[in-house]
Amino acid sequence: MTTVKKRSTFAELVARKDKMLSPIFSQDWPNLPVVKAQGIYLYGLDGKRYMDFMAAFGAVNVGHNHPKVIAAAKEQMEKQIHGAVGVTLHESVLRLAEMLPAILPGALDMFFFGNSGAEAVEGCIKLARNVTGRPGIIAFTGGFHGRTYGAATLTASKSSYRLGLEPFLGSVYHTPYADTYHSAHPDDPAKCVAETMRALQTLLDRIIAPSQVAAIIVEPIQGEGGYVAPPKEFLRQLRETCTKNNILLIFDEVQSGFGRTGEWFAGQLFGLEPDIMAIAKGIASGFPLGAVCAKQELMSRWTPTVHGTTFGGNPISCAAAIATIDTIRDEGLLENAKKMGAYLLSRLQDLKKKYPVIGDVRGVGLMIGIEFIVPGTDREPNSNAAKKVLNELLSRGVLMYPCGMRGQVIRVAPPLNVTRAQVDEAIKALDQSLATL
Ligand SMILES: Cc1ncc(COP(=O)(O)O)c(C=O)c1O
Repeated sequence: MTTVKKRSTFAELVARKDKMLSPIFSQDWPNLPVVKAQGIYLYGLDGKRYMDFMAAFGAVNVGHNHPKVIAAAKEQMEKQIHGAVGVTLHESVLRLAEMLPAILPGALDMFFFGNSGAEAVEGCIKLARNVTGRPGIIAFTGGFHGRTYGAATLTASKSSYRLGLEPFLGSVYHTPYADTYHSAHPDDPAKCVAETMRALQTLLDRIIAPSQVAAIIVEPIQGEGGYVAPPKEFLRQLRETCTKNNILLIFDEVQSGFGRTGEWFAGQLFGLEPDIMAIAKGIASGFPLGAVCAKQELMSRWTPTVHGTTFGGNPISCAAAIATIDTIRDEGLLENAKKMGAYLLSRLQDLKKKYPVIGDVRGVGLMIGIEFIVPGTDREPNSNAAKKVLNELLSRGVLMYPCGMRGQVIRVAPPLNVTRAQVDEAIKALDQSLATL
């Protein structure tokens, strides 16, 4: 008879995590052991309740374990857990494809489904190169597009994300993003845009001819790079440059999408339509799903066999996505994101007046960044202060997470159904945390 080894408790496993999990996980912050998640709340192994003000990197915009998402996923799970799309067809992938055009900008109406944001980005650049026959891809400094090789090549939000990875994908070029606060003209968005567009034009004039560029990929609002919303004019001129040169414009809305800004997608804030779009994260409330979105006229030119997937468009993920879209609509979450976002921003602006360590507070909807600087300097990043505040916040039961080139920005991105009372509670914890500096 085989003896069954007693299973370790969760606490014992946590104590041994460094020996079992790659440092990629185990040396991240804060490695909070969680036993249950519901709505905005995470229930810790320590018996404490935490408010999730980063919404699992923007993946749970309707909150953790939303009952409608659970019900839809369960119902689908009883019917079919997996189906390889193309070999077989299930209803939820087709229903999702039918629903998406109504919430996407412009006329994006055809989809390739994958499992994650990075995979959606890979699909976008493969599509762009395949249909244009051009090699070049232009991306922006400050941009984050994921961790797979193509996506990591495009990523330029932090050099540490690229460390030891070369050689990267060929024919990828970077040019500055219109990040007004960090530019030479922090008080003059128009000048910042002019300089940014001049740099892009120099790239096209001197380094890669427009005829060799398949696509320009941009986050309409940068996430990982520091929660940076560019002036509208930047994206408008980018759209114009792409159209003039037959370059495809790709929006990476993996983080800025699914209601985070108070619109379904950030591009809609600017009234702009990309040719291709990458979406993921909030699409399925925590189930793995991402999509490459394009107009039929473009997508139908993607050579069959050049791309594929085993799990993409998984029936449960698609059912969860349908329930997510219904929930955002039925519960008025875009309106709530706008309302709570404006309230949160105004409360943060009050804190900025009180604490000179806050250099900037910015954002749209519930995609808000707090930038920490060394007081008395010219915007010198203060990642130590951000780190200290994050730890203080956690000890007060609020989970936020850093971003920005040096981790000097705290992103404030709760689920879209956050209440005023929860915002007040987080602001109180933030005020107390700032006071400890
Ligand atoms: C804008 C953007 N694109 C792509 C990705 C990659 O998504 P994933 O982590 O699902 O691969 C992220 C993740 O943070 C992101 O913020």
